[in-house]
Amino acid sequence: MSSSQVQGGSHQVNLLLRPATKADIPAIRGIYNDAILNTTSTFDSTPKSMAEMESWFAAHDERHPILVMVADGHVWGWASLSRWSDRAAYDGTAELSVYVHPEHRGQGIGRKLMAAILEEGRRAGLHTVISRIEAGNAASIHLHAAFGFSMVGVMKEVGCKFGRWLDVAIMQLILEGQTGPVALIQE
Ligand SMILES: CC(C)(COP(=O)(O)OP(=O)(O)OC[C@H]1O[C@@H](n2cnc3c(N)ncnc32)[C@H](O)[C@@H]1OP(=O)(O)O)[C@@H](O)C(=O)NCCC(=O)NCCS
Repeated sequence: MSSSQVQGGSHQVNLLLRPATKADIPAIRGIYNDAILNTTSTFDSTPKSMAEMESWFAAHDERHPILVMVADGHVWGWASLSRWSDRAAYDGTAELSVYVHPEHRGQGIGRKLMAAILEEGRRAGLHTVISRIEAGNAASIHLHAAFGFSMVGVMKEVGCKFGRWLDVAIMQLILEGQTGPVALIQE
């Protein structure tokens, strides 16, 4: 779908951004389960089984894509747009997720995934994208703001993980009406 390069230690690594296939599920699961066990970025607290990840994968379609960033054959990150609600009136709304392998954060992978998944959502005709972000997740809030997401509000102490009550920020981007690729508004 799109290719680029990034510095990987002493050499350039070839990056390929493409739709996820079933064969990517174990790598996607590995990245997500690491976030479950070690971060408050997701409010899941029990690692996902292969069967659970397979049904998550099956719940996605052309309007609700999953993209992977592949570096020299290894999945370094993924992003998805998931159905926000089964209630019909919410059909044009999707929820964004983006996860980068812990060893490869801070290299621009998250930015590339965000740009691509938002562009997919715009092309699919989705009206709006929502993200629920743990309020202390400064990197994710920064990344969303950089793509024009606005802060809807903060829900106080709605989750409890690692023995702490956590606030959740809701951020939103209206896609419909955007006529070209979703652009970064901050550099
Ligand atoms: C959030 C996440 C996806 C970002 O991916 P990444 O590849 O590390 O991000 P990038 O390198 O593309 O850029 C991140 C941006 O956040 C900024 N950033 C990083 N840490 C930050 C911090 N603590 N505070 C503020 N900004 C921060 C970076 O400077 C960069 O912005 P810039 O390009 O304007 O300098 C990644 O950290 C991750 O997977 N975290 C765990 C899962 C997660 O939080 N997912 C989002 C759930 S809502």
